[in-house]
Order: sequence, then C-alpha cells, then structure tokens
Amino acid sequence: KAAASVVDEHVSGAEREDEEYADVDWDKLGFSLIRTDYMFATRSCKDGNFEQGYLSRYGNIELNPAAGILNYGQAKLQISSAGLIEGMKAYRGEDGRILLFRPELNAMRMKIGAERMCMHSPSVHQFIEGVKQTVLANRRWVPPPGKGSLYLRPLLFGTGASLGVAAAPEYTFLVFGSPVQNYFKEGTAALNLYVEKVIPRAYLGGTGGVKAISNYGPVLEVMRRAKSRGFSDVLYLDADTGKNIEEVSAANIFLVKGSTIVTPATSGTILGGITRKSVIEIALDLGYKVEERRVPVEELKEAEEVFCTGTAAGVASVGSITYQNTRTEYKVGDGIVTQQLRSILVGIQTGSIQDTKNWVFQI
Ligand code: PLP
Ligand code: COI
Repeated sequence: KAAASVVDEHVSGAEREDEEYADVDWDKLGFSLIRTDYMFATRSCKDGNFEQGYLSRYGNIELNPAAGILNYGQAKLQISSAGLIEGMKAYRGEDGRILLFRPELNAMRMKIGAERMCMHSPSVHQFIEGVKQTVLANRRWVPPPGKGSLYLRPLLFGTGASLGVAAAPEYTFLVFGSPVQNYFKEGTAALNLYVEKVIPRAYLGGTGGVKAISNYGPVLEVMRRAKSRGFSDVLYLDADTGKNIEEVSAANIFLVKGSTIVTPATSGTILGGITRKSVIEIALDLGYKVEERRVPVEELKEAEEVFCTGTAAGVASVGSITYQNTRTEYKVGDGIVTQQLRSILVGIQTGSIQDTKNWVFQI
C-alpha cells in the first residue's frame, strides 16, 4: 500500500464531505493551522520514482526513529537527506473557479532543492497532481472570494531509515492545507523590520537558495527577540561581508527608487521567490526599470517605498526599517508603486484580471 507508513486511513473520493463551505468564521482567519479533511501522500520506490499516491484523512504520521528527517535534517550546512517545504495558495474567484498560481514553479523549485539535498523528488506532474487532489478533497476549506485562500504546504522528507550519514533510501511527498488570510499579525498594516547584524540567515555554499526546513530553525530565536521588541520581522544581511541586505525570514525584499525597483540578486543565499519573480515581470510590463544586484544596507535610506513579497506574505508594505538604532521610514498608503503591483498580482491570482501570461492553473 503506497505511503502506508505515513497515513492513518485510506479513504475513497466517494466519502468526501460535499457541503460548499466548512464551518469557519471566514472573517477571523489569520495564519494559524486549521485542520482540514484530507492530505495527500506518496513515497519513493527503490529507483527513486514516486508511487501514484493517494488521499487519506488528515492526521498524524508515523515515522521510523532512524528516518532521515529525524536524524540528519537539522544541520546548518546540509550533508544528507533532510526536509524541503513548499508554500502555495488556492484562491476561489468571484466566478467560483478555484485557481492555483504558477504551481509548476513550486514543483521545479522542489526538484532543484531535492538535487541540492541529495533527495528523490516527485515529477512536476506528480507534484501538481498531489496539490490538485488535496485542493479538490478540501474544497470546502477554500475561503469565499476576498476572505483569504487555502494555503498548501507540500513537504518532501526522508522517511527511509539509515544510521550512518547518508541519503535516506526512501522519501515521502506529502501535501496538506489550511485556510489562511494575512501572514503578519499586523494584517495589511505596514511592517516594521529589524536588520539583524550578527546572525545571517544563509551562507555561501549553504542552502539559503532552496526551501530547506533547516533555513528556518536557526533564525527563530532572532525573530523571537525582534518580535518581543515590537518589530514585525527580521531583515538579514549577507554572511560574507555583513554589508548587503538579503531577505526577510519568509519573504523577499524590494526597494522603490523613483521609477526603478531594486531587489537583491538571488546568488545562492536568497530564495528565488515565485512572488518575487512575478512582481518583477509585472513591474517590467508596467515600464519600471528593475535592478537585481547587491543592495548595500545603507541604500535603505534612499528608498521611497519598501515592500516584501512571498506566497504567505503577499506584497506587504514596509513602513520602517531599523538598522543600528537608526529607523528609516517609508511611504505607505494608496496609489503608490507597492499598491499598484499588489493589486495586479492579486487580480491575476484571484481571476479578476485576465491572465495573459498563463500563470493561473484552474483546478
Ligand atoms: N524567502 C523565504 C525565506 C521564504 O520562506 C519565502 C516563502 O516562500 C519567500 C522568500 C518567498 O517565496 P515565494 O514568493 O515563492 O512564496
Ligand atoms: C510561503 O510564503 O509560502 C512560506 O513558505 C513562508 C513561510 C510561511 C515559511
């Protein structure tokens, strides 16, 4: 039985709940886990290919104590099988269609991450099929139009057992979802970021450029400290020189300087965000000049607007950035570049703006 070690119970499509909406107060969604009905799982065979996979009731999973993920997944510089995550959203359009945004890019990113971490990975088709089945089975958890989205979390992790430092012999690809609205507790209000001088997020030659779970653990304490001082999140500097900005804990960063939009180049230590890539394409279409390059931390003082991008974060306005006790403030509010880019991106994602780029994938 495929993925038998990680699922509680195998259920067939006929048993799926069929009401239109789950019993959720859609006006109160934040970004915390709401248990949905089903998850999808499949595991790799000896040849590295993945089985067909299927849905099961959402629930706990069982792991071998020697599973790769539990033994060699938390080091800073990965040497062995570990864990990768993805993040994507399913939106319900005004016309009732359920849409994914550029899912093939998440699938490709997981593949590239898997190569880096010496893991087997599902094909692009298998990835999208797993996500699609998860959304369909949890349809009633996709919020009504304008109330949020169903956040999807594809996971890839070593479930095969091994004692020595080596790639796990078997991997599990699992997808679950949770309805969400705003990622930051600030809601749609502007973020106040804190520049971390001492602890970098990623190292040259490390895993900053892929969505490895081990990129998140090492910065949780830095984030906790910044949040306890009233900041929304942390902006990290490069480990090499400590002079250039890289990204926020779970989002990329952009500066607006007149008709030029500047963002740090993704040269191995920064995650190549799908929102980042899409915002760059939209900005170029609108006639902005886009510069992807090194961005010295001092340049933050020259920006008129700053914003972060990410699947969970969306296009989030930054109201201030504090670096070495100096706080720089930015323009926020309506009619500005951030707002223009956000409304076009959200319009395409939710189906209210015609998708001329073939970015949306109808479920
Ligand atoms: N950077 C990090 C570290 C992230 O975790 C994320 C979230 O996925 C992003 C950037 C933004 O990437 P994307 O736009 O693909 O969600
Ligand atoms: C995303 O934006 O999808 C992320 O993965 C960010 C975070 C919730 C880890």
